[in-house]
Amino acid sequence: MTAEYQVQDGVAIITLANPPVNGLGLATRQGIMEGLQRAAADASVRAIVLTGAGKAFSGGADIREFGTSKALEEPILVSVIAAIEHSPKPVVAAVHSVAMGGGLELALGCHYRLAAPGAQIALPEVKLGIMPGAGGTQRLPRVAGLEAALDMITTGAVVRSEQLAGTRTFDRIVESSQPADLLAEAVAFAREVGTRPGPHPLVRDLNIEAPDAEGRLAAARAAIAARSAHFPAPLKCIEALEAAVRLPFEAGLKVEREAFLFLLTTPESRALRHAFFGERAAGKIADVPSATPVRDIHKVAVIGAGTMGAGIAMTFLSAGLPVTLLEARQEALERGVATIRKNYDSTVRKGKLSEEKAERAMALLQTTLDYAAIADADLVIEAVFEDMGVKETVFRQLDAVMKPGAILASNTSTLDLNAIAGFTTRPQDVVGLHFFSPANVMKLLEVVRGAQTGKDVLATVMKLAKTLRKTAVVSGVCDGFIGNRMVEQYVRQAGFLLDEGCTPQQIDSAIERFGFAMGPFRMCDLAGNDIWQAIRTRKLQEHPDLAYSTTADQLCALGRFGQKTGAGWYDYVPGDRTAHPSPVVAGLLAKHVAASGVPQRQVSDEEIVERLVYALVNEGAAILEEGIAAKASDIDMVYLTGYGFPLHRGGPMLYADMVGLDKVLARMQSFSTGYHGELWKPAPLLVRLAAAGKGLTG
Ligand code: NAI
Repeated sequence: MTAEYQVQDGVAIITLANPPVNGLGLATRQGIMEGLQRAAADASVRAIVLTGAGKAFSGGADIREFGTSKALEEPILVSVIAAIEHSPKPVVAAVHSVAMGGGLELALGCHYRLAAPGAQIALPEVKLGIMPGAGGTQRLPRVAGLEAALDMITTGAVVRSEQLAGTRTFDRIVESSQPADLLAEAVAFAREVGTRPGPHPLVRDLNIEAPDAEGRLAAARAAIAARSAHFPAPLKCIEALEAAVRLPFEAGLKVEREAFLFLLTTPESRALRHAFFGERAAGKIADVPSATPVRDIHKVAVIGAGTMGAGIAMTFLSAGLPVTLLEARQEALERGVATIRKNYDSTVRKGKLSEEKAERAMALLQTTLDYAAIADADLVIEAVFEDMGVKETVFRQLDAVMKPGAILASNTSTLDLNAIAGFTTRPQDVVGLHFFSPANVMKLLEVVRGAQTGKDVLATVMKLAKTLRKTAVVSGVCDGFIGNRMVEQYVRQAGFLLDEGCTPQQIDSAIERFGFAMGPFRMCDLAGNDIWQAIRTRKLQEHPDLAYSTTADQLCALGRFGQKTGAGWYDYVPGDRTAHPSPVVAGLLAKHVAASGVPQRQVSDEEIVERLVYALVNEGAAILEEGIAAKASDIDMVYLTGYGFPLHRGGPMLYADMVGLDKVLARMQSFSTGYHGELWKPAPLLVRLAAAGKGLTG
């Protein structure tokens, strides 16, 4: 049993005890039922207190049971709440620390509720694409009012218990935030109400305070249409809240139940749950146990104060870690510091950071031109030019000066990390930390595991990523790692579509309608077309037979490198990132297609999306098969957090599963007879999984 039972002075205390957050798994639900029965049968018991051990009252459903038969096995939460409501002896919830989701629904089913101050109260189901399914949408508005319930249920926002003071959510908010004090007060409260004649109050019997319900529901609908058009859950929450206002309690519950069951089956909810679990799974490395010792990281050094170095330094400074920035030249150092200063100033101006915090971060920054000054750093991150010769010089110097046990990291986006580790006498201390631009903003951090990277080094950087609030995903060593290796195939297909007569805006808008934050041409303009050209040039030297559209080189020949030059695939007005279709590019493409002899055709938006997304899927499957990514969800996390892949579609791997691998393969086969069809060779893993009727994500 994961609920404990004891009797104290005529009050039965049922304590949820299912660490870490007293999730309402089957054994816990059974434990509550058993406690209620024992209390009912014990004539000496006058009332019951329901509380939680440790760090929570209850965090809600036990996520370990998600998708298993246990989640639906009786007693389900609805039945537990019904048993509480039918209890002949009053049940008092003693809510401390956390009452979320099912945990809050459980408390709302009790006759009375006491809360400790500071307790976090929420119905966060909408964040997983679902909604409360055990009466939350019917009971919360009855105690907190329609307005607060609309806000909490449609956004999943967390509020503190004291913010609900003055509503009927809690009968009392006690003074002490200590669970033991709360429990003592709840027991005394229960003893007192236990002497009162029944029936005891039930939330279901309350009327909803909802002045101007029509107007509020309409305003909430409008706000949601603007905010989360791709997700059905928030609107379903409103439907259930509308039912709470208009219908009797039981009828409202039925509306909630139907909407809840509907949402469980939606692809959007599947995608959100996949991302939720994918984020957790990405932090776990199969052969690096969670007990692996980690190294202390108190001081950081960053080599190179360019685009990436400045952003990486900010990431650490903002997390409160001192950084020494090292450059080859004084003016580069000054430019880097000025960039950091400018970024903090603008964040303060936008109201996203207090001046005090910005100053505190800046005070942690030191600069140097001398390696001796960084010798005692615990972690050094190299972000110099993407050139193996330069990297070699830097790593040989680091090897010579850094203290034993320092972690030596490279931010390289394409170079061989094992070769870089080979420039040192301590390859076990070398790891790739591939930040994305702008490094202080982007959530993704690819952690590149070299052949000899130490397990403690991996454990340390994974822990560090949490401090930096990054989503860390481990990648093996290959050209481009997970993200850029896949995106190359995507950008290549986009180029071929130009050859066949599409325009950049047609391609971008098709994929943006699919849900990408930005189409491939806007993305290249942002990153810099010269950077893509450099990658292509290097690849063509290594593999002269690689096929690319030549349009991007023609663009670069005009100096149209993207936003930074005010012109790329699109035209830009200085200081504005809006992409305007370019007559110059239209002319370039017209000349190109006339000269190329490639058959021109009308390509549908559907085909554009399939060509781009299935190019990602196929390379992703190869990456998975080679073990560069340990799991399909890791690939999806890279794409969701680093490449603007639409969250409601769950990432390229889950998306392929949702379409059906057999259908994906059939489309690839049809593309193989088209322009550059030779590139559509399905990854063997895809073929095998499709034949077995399985998916990439399991
Ligand atoms: P950048 O050209 O903006 O900055 C490089 C900086 O390194 C310059 O300030 C330069 O003065 C300095 N530097 C060069 N040699 C040095 C040396 N021997 N010692 C000390 N400092 C030296 O380049 P960027 O874009 O910041 O790229 C740096 C690294 O990050 C590259 O490996 C790149 O592939 C990688 N990267 C770049 C991304 C991007 O979007 N720009 C994204 C992710 C990784």
